[in-house]
Amino acid sequence: MKELALYFLDIVKNSTAAGARHVNLSLSECEDGTLTAVISDDGKGMSPDLLAAVSDPFTTTRTTRKVGMGIPLYRMAAEQTGGSLSLESTLGAGTTITAVFHRGHLDCPPLGDLPGAAALMVQGSPQVDFTLVHTTVKGSYTFQTEQIRDLLGPEVPLDTPEVFLWIREFLAEQEANI
Ligand SMILES: Nc1ncnc2c1ncn2[C@@H]1O[C@H](COP(=O)(O)OP(=O)(O)OP(=O)(O)O)[C@@H](O)[C@H]1O
Ligand SMILES: [Mg+2]
Repeated sequence: MKELALYFLDIVKNSTAAGARHVNLSLSECEDGTLTAVISDDGKGMSPDLLAAVSDPFTTTRTTRKVGMGIPLYRMAAEQTGGSLSLESTLGAGTTITAVFHRGHLDCPPLGDLPGAAALMVQGSPQVDFTLVHTTVKGSYTFQTEQIRDLLGPEVPLDTPEVFLWIREFLAEQEANI
């Protein structure tokens, strides 16, 4: 994939597929050129066996079910920049996936269209509470779907085209300030 934002979208899809009610995406860009992306959810979590298979699909032989390519590709993207990926998961409680990217590395994709990707996350799972925190050396912002839910009232679902466009524009403004 050419954009980090599209990886985040893909990994967040795992969280919503796992029945998460809350999904947090936290992006921290540091002075040292690293970008740390933490995606955490309160979905169904993974058993130790599944976690092992997902973490290392090429060497785990006890794979009892089909394991996809989303997490392996995400890991490869991070490691290709000299960074890393770590997974924590508890069955019945949730999952946290932390990726570190070295932004200065030639193989590091650009962040890409984060406002568009985040708006798609909300549109794809309007019932989920998303939190996005983006911190750079210049500043930080937090976006919570709970806030716009309060603003719009219970009658307006978050998957309407108007809400999609509003979120994308709002986040683009926030991005411009940091
Ligand atoms: N956040 C999560 N919560 C619970 N289970 C997860 C989570 N993320 C991944 N998994 C489990 O790990 C498996 C592998 O995830 P991965 O993203 O690598 O592939 P996939 O989603 O199955 O397929 P693909 O991403 O290629 O469409 C998932 O099928 C799911 O069983
Ligand atoms: Mg996936």
